[in-house]
Amino acid sequence: MSDSITIQPNPPATKHLYIDTVGCQMNVLDSEMVVASLRKYGYALTGSPEQADVMLFNTCSVREHAEEKTYHNLFHLKQLKLANPGKVLGVMGCMAQKDQKAIFERTPFVDLVVGPGQLHRIPELIERAQAGEKHQLAVSLSRRDGNVDDIKRSHETFDPLRDPEMRPTPFQAYLRIQIGCDKFCTYCIVPMTRGPEQGRAPEQIVAEAQELARQGCKEIVLLGQTVNSYRYVQGEKTTRMADLLHMLHEIDGIERLKFVTNYPKDMTKELLETVRDLPKCSPYLHVPAQSGSDNILKKMKRGYTTADYYEMMDRINAIIPEASVSSDFIVGFCGETEEEFQMTMDMVRRCRFKNSFVFQYSVRPGTKGAEIYEDDIPEDVKHRRNLDLLAVQNKISLEDNMKFLGQKVEILVEGPSKWSVRKGQTGDLRQMTGRTKCDRIVVWDGNVRQAGQLLPVQITDVYAFTLFGMVETTESTPNLLQIANA
Ligand code: SAH
Ligand code: SF4
Ligand code: F3S
Repeated sequence: MSDSITIQPNPPATKHLYIDTVGCQMNVLDSEMVVASLRKYGYALTGSPEQADVMLFNTCSVREHAEEKTYHNLFHLKQLKLANPGKVLGVMGCMAQKDQKAIFERTPFVDLVVGPGQLHRIPELIERAQAGEKHQLAVSLSRRDGNVDDIKRSHETFDPLRDPEMRPTPFQAYLRIQIGCDKFCTYCIVPMTRGPEQGRAPEQIVAEAQELARQGCKEIVLLGQTVNSYRYVQGEKTTRMADLLHMLHEIDGIERLKFVTNYPKDMTKELLETVRDLPKCSPYLHVPAQSGSDNILKKMKRGYTTADYYEMMDRINAIIPEASVSSDFIVGFCGETEEEFQMTMDMVRRCRFKNSFVFQYSVRPGTKGAEIYEDDIPEDVKHRRNLDLLAVQNKISLEDNMKFLGQKVEILVEGPSKWSVRKGQTGDLRQMTGRTKCDRIVVWDGNVRQAGQLLPVQITDVYAFTLFGMVETTESTPNLLQIANA
């Protein structure tokens, strides 16, 4: 891969692409890459499978529910595909890597199955399918299929191709710094679908960030499964996450840097001090704890104890007192007792996360957990624990958001809010949304021309997950009332 990025103009669009994306930020980024590559072949995006020449599903395998939804969506398109054999139907992403040929067996009307490490081959595979070649399969090597360098290479993706139009806002972009994962938590399929952990070369990352800045991007979110474990070794030199932040901080035009997802064991003092000292770094840290019970953490093979996690929280709070920390939890993991679940509740109370994503354990064939433990917690118990944990978290989120009432915060304006889109608001005056530096969502009555600006907003009301505000009026950002009266 070269370090410099040359952008060629796209040919005029003559064909249509429909793409459905589920899963994590990695998939959102992968879809952006695939769209960018297909634009080079004359494809434009459409929201309608009926209009599309190519229909792609970017899939997730992290929980069974996500996979079943994908199969449901595929069956939904079966008649359309069979009535129009020239349309190409493809499954890409983690489910493609995990299930491979089995997808053709269950849904024989699918033309392509392409794993996340092979997405650069999509244009070629589409052409083959259009030429009548059935069942095109492109997947990376499995963990046991050869030497480690070949396996790693087969999972590499083609990051430097970017498509700003695919991003929800042109001012924010994801940038992958790490591929794969070697942690092998016993519940998790990701090390199998995304392959071995490998850091991308810092020069490539910086070149991509410079290109994003040139495109007008102000906020970059660095992505990795355990992003703070990032390491890149070149001869004698090792580049770590903190070094990378220093390098990216120099880029003009980039105003904010965030990174997800963090691994508790690698949240070093050096990294936290870097976040504190570099003004562009957001004091927002997503550090999934997964459970508040030592026994469960051990069975999950997470590699830390609750004492380690609490110590990390103390370190974060001591070095970055204004930090906001969020977490993921799995409830109903194999053998989780009520007492162990209560320890998770206590952890949420004690750590006071900004927010927590709570998941009910879903057994994943192919993981160690599926092999050695029984998925023995009834679904209704998992569901109740999920609701209980969210209730505690929501109360804390609301209480902590109250502290923002009357405060002025700086937000990066993303665009019209979801509410505005749902209500079909048109024209310049809309409900707008943006995020604070600590990743809190703010909405206010504003103007679409504010998109991409960093604005001071006065907070007037708060919910658990949203702050409501008023933008201080300046000449460039008139408020609704002024415009209405003009
Ligand atoms: N790399 C990230 C998480 C990737 S998956 C990390 O280590 O934190 C995102 C989240 O999905 C995980 O944090 C976990 O909470 C959840 N998850 C993963 N496997 C799961 C499973 N089998 N069942 C339920 N939730 C799961
Ligand atoms: Fe999965 Fe654990 Fe790796 Fe995260 S760290 S991707 S949970 S194996
Ligand atoms: Fe899902 Fe793959 Fe992401 S399994 S969570 S899309 S890495």
